[in-house]
Amino acid sequence: MCGIFGIITSEERLLGPTLIEAGRMLSYRGYDSVGCATISQEGEIDLRKDAGKVETVAEKYNFAEMTGKRGILQLRWATFGAPSQVNSQPHLDSDGDLVGAHNGNVVNNVELRKEFISEGMTVRSENDGESCIHAVERYVDRGFNMVEAIRKAAGDLEGDFSFVIGKDDEDVLYAIKKGSGLVAGYAEEATVVSSDLPSLLPLTRRIVRVEDGEIVIMTPDKIELRSVADGGVIEREIEEITETMEAVKKGNFAHFMLKEIHEQPKVAEELLHLLDNSEDVDQIVARMKTADHVYLVGCGTSYHACLLGSVYFGRLAGKATIPAVATQFMAQYGPTLGPNDVGIFVSQSGETKDVLNAIELAEQKGIGVLGLVNVVGSTLMRVSTHHIPLGCGYEISVPATKTFTNQVLSFLYLALRMGGHDTNILYELPELMKQTIEATDGQAAELAKALVDVPDLYQLGYGLTYPVALEGSLKLKEITYQHCEGILSTEFKHGPLSAVEEGYPVVFVAGQEDVDLIVSGINEATCRGGRAIVVGTEDARLRANGDDFLTIPKVDSPEIEALLIVIPLQLLSYHLALGRGYDPDFPRNLSKTLTVD
Ligand code: AGP
Repeated sequence: MCGIFGIITSEERLLGPTLIEAGRMLSYRGYDSVGCATISQEGEIDLRKDAGKVETVAEKYNFAEMTGKRGILQLRWATFGAPSQVNSQPHLDSDGDLVGAHNGNVVNNVELRKEFISEGMTVRSENDGESCIHAVERYVDRGFNMVEAIRKAAGDLEGDFSFVIGKDDEDVLYAIKKGSGLVAGYAEEATVVSSDLPSLLPLTRRIVRVEDGEIVIMTPDKIELRSVADGGVIEREIEEITETMEAVKKGNFAHFMLKEIHEQPKVAEELLHLLDNSEDVDQIVARMKTADHVYLVGCGTSYHACLLGSVYFGRLAGKATIPAVATQFMAQYGPTLGPNDVGIFVSQSGETKDVLNAIELAEQKGIGVLGLVNVVGSTLMRVSTHHIPLGCGYEISVPATKTFTNQVLSFLYLALRMGGHDTNILYELPELMKQTIEATDGQAAELAKALVDVPDLYQLGYGLTYPVALEGSLKLKEITYQHCEGILSTEFKHGPLSAVEEGYPVVFVAGQEDVDLIVSGINEATCRGGRAIVVGTEDARLRANGDDFLTIPKVDSPEIEALLIVIPLQLLSYHLALGRGYDPDFPRNLSKTLTVD
């Protein structure tokens, strides 16, 4: 999703390399266009932008040579207006004395553009980022100072966004946050602001978290926060960040995705220690036990974790829970929610708009908001009464891997605790994960060679492995662009089986309790020419009936087995993406943090 970065320095300097690096750091969020603007000491604005990748656009327009006292970079993920040079950001106002860029969605963009045109402003693009600039221009032209103009503009702009803006004749950079991420920081002889923290880490460890409804007024040595509501100054402590830069580097791995797959044993172990020492665990369990209804709510991969969590709570704690995709939670359960219900909202980023919308509804209905979230300081973390931090560190690759396994592990831990079981059995998991990666990486790479050209696949699971099949299938389509459908294995014969013909790959995500069912399913597929690929624990019958077998280490607990089985599916997707010539870290059209409806 779009990313913005801004810098103001004490003296005019070469800003291009800093802006390019910020673009690289923000690129994991997903984007299709790149742009930079610098403002010189004398107020001259240099604007260069186009559709394309950071490296390509930066080289074509020589971003590296850009100098100034203020700089703005934007990565755009198209919503309003196709990816093109004119729709790329930053944007100028009518006379070219304001320049800025946004992240988010201005939902009344179309209406605003008409107003701006009828008021005589020069509107150059269809993009909603431009509307943010004209919204400020409108009030600057009426004589308001920049802070007042931004406050008033915020009232005209509907939706969730943050933007950064500078005026040619002032030595100040401004930003505003309303719904989209924004963090500021003190760098060397400069202050900086960005959509997210990792992009600031090469420049500073001293950061200032910006909250919704706040304006950031940046001079080279000072960051001041003002309230949009009343213009008053807001005091905020400077936070010292201790995380190392290693977390946002690939190290010896070819891709972040592979690195993050390999980090799963380590972050699982760290999470277990964290859960053992967390007071929130007891509070969450107690709240769930007494609730009338417990909803587990998320999107995409996080929703799959909710599905598996729900199976865990039923099996291990005898507690019925309702898994729901965040938007469907509102549509389906909104009318019946009551104050004694509770929702566990699950999100890696903690900023997914669909999830935040569901939380808003939950709060209106007075239901308890609990969170499973990875990004420290994110909106979900702040609005949850109790939360479990997933403790994965940064997950840079767009496809979620380690955050999924830690979401599932959190649910497994909670279910064991709620059911009065010993959670210590989970300490065997990190070693099993390590063995699973070692055992299946080569097998997955081999299998990927055979599947590299197939257009369609199925992934089938049942009970504990049904959510895993959905997750394996999402991972595959997300980064290989092959069509892959995850299905409940018993539903296969009710329709999808008709597509199976000679060589059609069907992946069976095999739980140890369901061997009979899987053997039938395999034969249903193979007798019609299908290629049965089994992923699971070594089993003579599965091996005898299937065509290919990705084997994971044996474990007694079917619940832990379900968690392990996702690893070969992650690796299969990874190797298939490479085989098909795609970068698994940054799949086209997708974004790490979806801050739009
Ligand atoms: C996962 O690989 C996807 N990138 C996507 O489905 C993701 O899980 C979804 O957008 C939800 O994100 P969140 O966990 O940050 O809320």
